[in-house]
Amino acid sequence: MSYKKAKGIYQEVITGIKNDGLYKDERTICSPQGAEVKVRFPADAPEKEMIVLCSNNYLGLSSHPDIMKAAHDGIERRGFGMSSVRFICGTQDIHRELEMKVSKFLGTEDTILFGSCFDANGALFEGILGPEDAIYSDKLVHASLIDGMRLCKAQRFIYEHSDMKELEEKLQNSQARLKLIITDGVFSMDGDMGKLDEICALAEKYEAMVAVDDSHATGFIGKTGRGTHEHFNVMDKVDIITTTFGKALGGATGGCVSGKKEIIELLKQRGRPYLFSNALPPAVVAASLKVFDILSESTARRDKLEELTSFWRNGLTEAGFDLKAGNTPIVPIMLYDAKLAQQFSRDLYQEGVFAVGFFYPVVPKGQARIRTQISAGLEKTHLERALAATIRVGKKHGILGLNKEQIIAKFANN
Ligand SMILES: Cc1ncc(COP(=O)(O)O)c(C=O)c1O
Repeated sequence: MSYKKAKGIYQEVITGIKNDGLYKDERTICSPQGAEVKVRFPADAPEKEMIVLCSNNYLGLSSHPDIMKAAHDGIERRGFGMSSVRFICGTQDIHRELEMKVSKFLGTEDTILFGSCFDANGALFEGILGPEDAIYSDKLVHASLIDGMRLCKAQRFIYEHSDMKELEEKLQNSQARLKLIITDGVFSMDGDMGKLDEICALAEKYEAMVAVDDSHATGFIGKTGRGTHEHFNVMDKVDIITTTFGKALGGATGGCVSGKKEIIELLKQRGRPYLFSNALPPAVVAASLKVFDILSESTARRDKLEELTSFWRNGLTEAGFDLKAGNTPIVPIMLYDAKLAQQFSRDLYQEGVFAVGFFYPVVPKGQARIRTQISAGLEKTHLERALAATIRVGKKHGILGLNKEQIIAKFANN
């Protein structure tokens, strides 16, 4: 009986989401992740070969044979599961080995692994800050950072996206014991970078710590792919980096906080998702070790990614699409209208291009888009085909050459 009332309410909410054009339909992939995949959409439709332009497989490592082999070997050598959190009986030699390897790659003092970066961000603030401390956050940081801050009793000050003047004003007026500035390294919805050089300069001036979530940067941003701290030449000034193994670094699962020794030590004592959630499985740890070996050997993959990204961004710009400015592999095509974004994605699907529409609540209302993402697993020929298809769809909707106001006006009654 008790569910009856709730059922009616939930069904009404779901209908509302559908009527607003905000319902998210999942495409079913029936092959390994890669440059091309086989997709069924709807789920009972026949399989269709698609070029993937919306995965976080930035370095094309998700189905790399050496990494898959390392995962198999990991199972052989250390078993399938840990059946324990780290501090009870869930720490193997390879967990510690991976923590040291990550620290070396990022140029930090130490690292603590988590089941995901969502967990890492959930653990971070509460573990190291109290009510007498303050966090200064960019308005557009990732949802997991927002949730992490909510779990912590420190005061929270939000500055408008990348507004360094507002950040400085907030830091100036602070009486807090400890201050921590938090930003995304690369903002995942817009593809722009946090102004880490300016943030570090302000941090020095006002004696604040700097934390950056480099989930969309580790492995490929910066000359040798270390991340945004390398790109901005502030490797020695960033105190804390959080990042994920679930995107460029093989794309399975796992995340970490990397940084100052005492911070990592404290998080191992206090981080709730560390103390109360299972250790990473050996297959993931062993495969992640291999990922860092591959990245340390050569920059070929991040170099190729940079080249392909320029080709894609230039092609779309020349065709007259309205893009978010940026210089990362995240290239959002702005459509503003949620229903248009859904239809655009369906049309791309018909053309053999897999790129989904992003709309509220993933981005603010009126900011709908197709977020394209480039991967080093793609070849230029994939992008040539995808570009021709995207232009055909852009022409169909009559948006080529239109600016933001013109697109909004055109679809006002959509
Ligand atoms: C900036 C950022 N931080 C953290 C996460 C969470 O990463 P994970 O998938 O490892 O939980 C994501 C994933 O979407 C992200 O984009």
